[in-house]
Parts: sequence; C-alpha cells; structure tokens
Amino acid sequence: MPQGKALDLAESAPILGYDCTLTGSNGYKESADSDIVVITSGIARKPGMSRDDLLKTNADIVRSVTKEVVRYSPNCILIIVSNPLDAMCQVALRESGFPKERVIGMAGVLDSARMACFLAEALDCSVENINAFVLGGHGDTMVPLPRYSTCAGIPITELLPAETIDKINARTASGGAEIVALLKTGSAYYAPSAATVDMCESILKDKKKILPCAAYLEGEYGITGLYVGVPVKLGARGIEQIIEVGLTTEERAALHKSAAAVQELVDLMGL
Ligand code: LAC
Repeated sequence: MPQGKALDLAESAPILGYDCTLTGSNGYKESADSDIVVITSGIARKPGMSRDDLLKTNADIVRSVTKEVVRYSPNCILIIVSNPLDAMCQVALRESGFPKERVIGMAGVLDSARMACFLAEALDCSVENINAFVLGGHGDTMVPLPRYSTCAGIPITELLPAETIDKINARTASGGAEIVALLKTGSAYYAPSAATVDMCESILKDKKKILPCAAYLEGEYGITGLYVGVPVKLGARGIEQIIEVGLTTEERAALHKSAAAVQELVDLMGL
C-alpha cells in the first residue's frame, strides 16, 4: 500500500508542479536520517468514540513506532498527530529521550483552522482574513479564544454576537467528532495533513512562524510537566520559543481545566 500511495503521489507531480523523490515502504530503514518524522500511527476513532477511548491501544503503537524512528533518525524532529494527541506527545517524548524542543504535537493549527473556517462562514468573508486562536489540549476541553481571534485585524468580538461566537467555539471543540460522524469510517484527513505541512514547512525553511502546537510546558501558563497546546515559534531547531499571552481569569481557568483533562490521561498511562 505505501508503495502504491508514493507512486500515485509521484505521478501527480508533473501536473501539480512539484519536484521531489517519494519512497513508500513498509519498514523504517528507508526513513533513516530524516530531518522530520511525522507519526500518525494509531487506530482512528469510530463514530461515538472519544479520542480518549483510544488511549491504551495508541500508546502502545506510538511507543513502538517512536522507538524504531529514533533508532534510524536520532537527530530528527518528531511531529505527533496520533490521538489522544497531548498524551501521545508525552509517550513520544518519554520513549525518544529527545529534548522537548524536538517533540511537537499537531493540534492547534488544525483546531484554529476549523475555527477560522466557521468564522469566515459566519462573517461571510474570506478565510484569508481570519486569524483564529485556540489554546489547550486537543479534546473537548480545548479553549478557543475569541478575544485573540481576528478578522482583518479586528477582534471577532467586535463583529459577531456572543451567542454566535459561543456556537462557533463549541463546534470547534467538537470539530474532529463532526468529521468522524460524517465519514462513518476514519477521521479527518485533508485539514490535519495541511496543518502538519504548515508546521513542517516552518521548521524545514526555518521560517520561525508562530503556530499553536502541543508543547511540553515547564511552568509556562502555570502548567508543569505536561503537553498542552500553546503558541510556539517553529524554526530549524523545532520549538524555538513558547509565547505566553495574557489571559483573563476565565480563560486561564478553562486552560487549566483542559490541562487537567490531559493530566488525567497521562496518569492513566502511568507516565
Ligand atoms: C481531528 C483528529 C486528527 O481532530 O484529531 O480530526
């Protein structure tokens, strides 16, 4: 199957105008000395299942994949996509023995893209005008931040009624489940891929883009020893900076509630 996917993608290159070598493989050897390795392995959710239901199965999968990846690419940067996202980052950090800057979770870029998509629809404007901001774990407790979300630089709180914003926040938090329910088998594909590419590009081109990602916090936002989604600067060294923004009492409480949900999963895994 991976060989077929690689060939199919390679055959699209002349039409789409990209030029790179693609190799599909069922082993790890071909991935040796990678700069970035994206781990998406794990079972996907079935309708009605929460990301957390996947905990134990996917922890074992992520652990074994990380072990092999690190053996072949000891200097890579790991981007984790497997769910439950923040807990799986913790597994990969522990198993790889990498510094925290080189183990990053893909969630916030996807969650804020979902929020941006819904905001553009509500405002009947281009998605290109929207900058959406989501903090916290990649689960039902994630924290969309309307105060920091803008349309053409204007806070959305100036443009939309509170009721509409509340609905968009709730839809954002269950954005993954909405797709799972529609697809019936498998989970979202295009938006998570696009989000991961955005992160890879910032790292490979040393763009130093500020993107919301799951990062291992050691005191930032008052959270210690845990992966949670926060704005980070992504460059050649991986996470080059964690950006701390001011939060209201309510926003901070919501972030801590989200962190507590991640901590619960980490505790369940005995990490
Ligand atoms: C989602 C999966 C990728 O949110 O976590 O769709």
